[in-house]
Amino acid sequence: MSTRAWFPTLIYSAPLGARGVRKFNTELLRECYQFRDHDDAGRRWSAKNYPGGFTSYASLCRLHKMSSTFMELERLIARHVGRFAKSLDFDLDGRSLVMTDCWINIMPPLAAHSLHLHPLSTISGTYYVKTPRGCSSLKFEDPRLASFMAAPPRRPDPRPENRTFVSYPAEAGRLTLFESWLRHEVAANRTSSERVSISFNFNWF
Ligand code: NI
Repeated sequence: MSTRAWFPTLIYSAPLGARGVRKFNTELLRECYQFRDHDDAGRRWSAKNYPGGFTSYASLCRLHKMSSTFMELERLIARHVGRFAKSLDFDLDGRSLVMTDCWINIMPPLAAHSLHLHPLSTISGTYYVKTPRGCSSLKFEDPRLASFMAAPPRRPDPRPENRTFVSYPAEAGRLTLFESWLRHEVAANRTSSERVSISFNFNWF
């Protein structure tokens, strides 16, 4: 007998497209700023709930229905979501995974996004549009953390599968996918320029 790892938590990370997406990102970035400038409700909501930054999460949260550029992004992301669902062995019983929400996050210096999950969704993720060198990564927490009770702490440098937290660097042109129940956060942006990303949810219908 040997010891095996069970009950894994899968996280997917890949470049959006096989070819470069620099031009596509330039257009996405332009639209992100355009939406922010027009989204009065979003700026008001962000001032209360996303200190120092801007998110269209509570105002313009279906951007894939509003812009052909975001519609193209949806098409590209959906391929990756299909691959990820396969690796999760989901039996969708004839239904499909559909993008339900897609919103902008603009984090100026010092803006942070505390620990959260994405309720009422199946797969969530983030696509990176603008990532200044050294900007905060996406940090995930072991979902079993609340059950550990009297378990001893881990060694400072455990095997990867035994880590309590894992961070995925934010890199323009890449996306990260995870199951929506997995808690994650983005630490304060310690660079001197804005970090821009687009987050999304998929559900099965
Ligand atoms: Ni999130």
